[in-house]
Amino acid sequence: MSISPSAEKKTAALATAPLYSPYRLGSIILKNRIVMAPMTRSRATAEQVPMPIMAEYYSKRASAGLIISEGTGPSQDGTGYPRIPGLWNDEQVEAWKTVTAAVHAKGGVIFVQIMHTGRESHLANMAPGSEIVAPSAIAGEGQIHTDRLGMVPKPMPRALSLEEIAKVRAEHVSAAVNAIAAGFDGVELHAANGYLLEQFLNPASNQRTDAYGGTLENRNRYVIEVADAVAKAIGGDRVGIRLSPYGTNNGMTPFPEIDGQYLKLLARLAETGIEYIHLVDHSAMGAPPVPTALKEAMSKQWPHTFIASGGFDLEQANETLAAGRADLIAFGRPFLANPDLVERLARGIPLTAPDPSTFFTPGPNGYTDL
Ligand SMILES: Cc1cc2nc3c(=O)[nH]c(=O)nc-3n(C[C@H](O)[C@H](O)[C@H](O)COP(=O)(O)O)c2cc1C
Repeated sequence: MSISPSAEKKTAALATAPLYSPYRLGSIILKNRIVMAPMTRSRATAEQVPMPIMAEYYSKRASAGLIISEGTGPSQDGTGYPRIPGLWNDEQVEAWKTVTAAVHAKGGVIFVQIMHTGRESHLANMAPGSEIVAPSAIAGEGQIHTDRLGMVPKPMPRALSLEEIAKVRAEHVSAAVNAIAAGFDGVELHAANGYLLEQFLNPASNQRTDAYGGTLENRNRYVIEVADAVAKAIGGDRVGIRLSPYGTNNGMTPFPEIDGQYLKLLARLAETGIEYIHLVDHSAMGAPPVPTALKEAMSKQWPHTFIASGGFDLEQANETLAAGRADLIAFGRPFLANPDLVERLARGIPLTAPDPSTFFTPGPNGYTDL
């Protein structure tokens, strides 16, 4: 593709723009401030083992400063969608090693997103003997995809007992330990988009009357415990967390004390020593916007790395970094059909639109054939 002289000039200017400057994330130096956002692509086996094709997909995107992998299950009960990868057995760890080695060979940095799907699960997608668990026995609204039965109503989950809450916390820890053994540079805890950890944060899905529900401190408790336990196991500088206040994915609804709850959550998370907050604003995807005042308060309050995501283009990313509202910017959909997004943005090369019909289908189509 030919680049006009003005585009060349723009490229030179961008080389010094904030997005293209290096950044220290904990003890890791990132070559730029572009993060590939976590995106489920459902290319693992039916037994939740990463496929070799995933090494090709991620290594093609190694020019990002940081790749955050697709949501990855910490246990069978936490893996409620078809063909998403897991991190609870040796076979999965060995398969992930191929992915992380391919990314590292190209100079990339990769964290895994640990995602327990909680009530957003269906037994038709899960290994025999699995159970659908959540903070409370409240079913998600609408339907969920299964490979075997097509779209089906979301099932009623079983409320976790106190002993089981501790067990699921331990599963997050062992997934994080496995992640490091598999060669990941760190882990991101998925406490956004209506999955298990956010199901604890939000009163629409958490109606518990014990120490994990009822007050905002109690609803925050589980997320803080999981973050603390994972930080203790692998080191806080290798841990981040994704949060989506005001998000409406998977039946989450904003509630009156939401701003105060998230600011308290950040204060407690800072005490655990974890490195980053990854804030989601899905207003570009039809969710209510996260109020600017809350975003600014969260970013100001957080002592370490703050990642902003949702609907960014090059200009907005540079503006946000220059204004000090974030340290890193995550791009999701732009990475899907543009493995060379980092170069395309720098050189002003037009972006290819992704094809939603290939987002979650098995095989190379729309995945590695781009
Ligand atoms: C196909 C697809 C899969 C996604 N899977 C995940 C996921 O596994 N975990 C997650 O936290 N967010 C997931 N997201 C949300 C993205 O990380 C991101 O927040 C969203 O696309 C908005 O950013 P964008 O406007 O740059 O695309 C997914 C988005 C898409 C399009």
